[in-house]
Amino acid sequence: MRKLFMATAFLAASALTAHADDVKEVQMLHWWTSGGEAAALNVLKQDLAKEGYAWKDVPVAGGGGDAAMTALKAMVAAGNYPTASQMLGYTVLDYAAAGKMGDLTETAIAEGWDKAVPAALQKFAVYDGKWVAAPVNVHSVNWLWINKAVMDKIGGTEPKTFDEFIALLDKAKAAGVTPLALGGQNWQEATMFDSVVLSTGGPEFYKKAFNELDEESLKSDTMKKSFDNLAKLKEYVDPNFSGRDWNLATAMVIKGDALVQVMGDWAKGEFKAANKVPGTDFLCYRFPGTDGSVIYNSDMFGMFDVPADQKAAQIALAKATLSKSFQSAFNVVKGSVPARTDVPDTDFDACGKKGIADLKAANDGGTLFGSLAQGYGAPPAVANAYKDVVSKFVHGQITTSEEAVNQLVQAIDDAK
Ligand code: BGC
Repeated sequence: MRKLFMATAFLAASALTAHADDVKEVQMLHWWTSGGEAAALNVLKQDLAKEGYAWKDVPVAGGGGDAAMTALKAMVAAGNYPTASQMLGYTVLDYAAAGKMGDLTETAIAEGWDKAVPAALQKFAVYDGKWVAAPVNVHSVNWLWINKAVMDKIGGTEPKTFDEFIALLDKAKAAGVTPLALGGQNWQEATMFDSVVLSTGGPEFYKKAFNELDEESLKSDTMKKSFDNLAKLKEYVDPNFSGRDWNLATAMVIKGDALVQVMGDWAKGEFKAANKVPGTDFLCYRFPGTDGSVIYNSDMFGMFDVPADQKAAQIALAKATLSKSFQSAFNVVKGSVPARTDVPDTDFDACGKKGIADLKAANDGGTLFGSLAQGYGAPPAVANAYKDVVSKFVHGQITTSEEAVNQLVQAIDDAK
């Protein structure tokens, strides 16, 4: 027993201690290429530089990370693992199940992560009892981002229901402003549709349909009505929306060329990078009819099973990521909220403070749901099928809500 204890203690010490021949570099694959995202990533680069680690950047542009995940797959297939990769929920679990991830459990125990990281995130960062990823943040997708000057000009107020939202969009249209800034890429359209479904069907419906994949819910009249509502929103989008990047849609709102964007709170990172202040320059409201619920995703750094001489760098990265000071500094810039429950909200702006409070309330009240569009509702194959159907509907390849529902049920069934 004593021998076993000593052996374990030795292993723990050796894994956590630096050696002379350790690689002093962190190689990171990610899709943080917009202005706000790059500013947030700089916080991490600087923290690691202070500890003597160089940064080897592997950026793969494309919001939502689909292109990045294709690039990662190729690297992993070639046996060329990065120290870590940005990943969303079910993707972490897939790589872990395939035996590709390392084991951060010793570090996690030493640092007390299990007490600080919300259970909703541990479900994805811990596989088979082992920590395989370091959660960076919690984003939430059911937000409206509004240009305040345009809002004042049209005499708008916070829309509390879907119908009030439509009335607000009508006011912008009448004033000659593009009402809704949307990027016509499948992940953006599906991210918006997550909110539409929650608003149309309510919390229980969202959970059943998009977290439990309950077929009755997926093929229900409520889902049909959700597509009807999506079709209504499409009426307020400008004709050049196809293929537009999400941050360019945010820029339309920042500049006052559009009233509102429905997007995850990474959009706030763009407002911040443009020195815009909530309450003065822009407004953040929950998507109408979803107050009290939070649809979340969380960026995780998936930690691969790297060679021994890279483990110290990986551990340094993981510790830096989950330190309280980093969790505050990074998320203030990124637009997200901390992945730990014990980080004070002092340095966050009004939207960030609301985000932190909303997350806690949703977590306590059972209204915190994984985003299907953002990798936290179901495994990637199902999420991709979903994004595809929603996008075909938005771009007119599917012409009725009824057909959209049929194709959604079929595509999800095939992907399962
Ligand atoms: C990520 C965010 C990122 C956004 C746009 C989301 O999937 O969670 O961190 O800012 O995509 O790139």
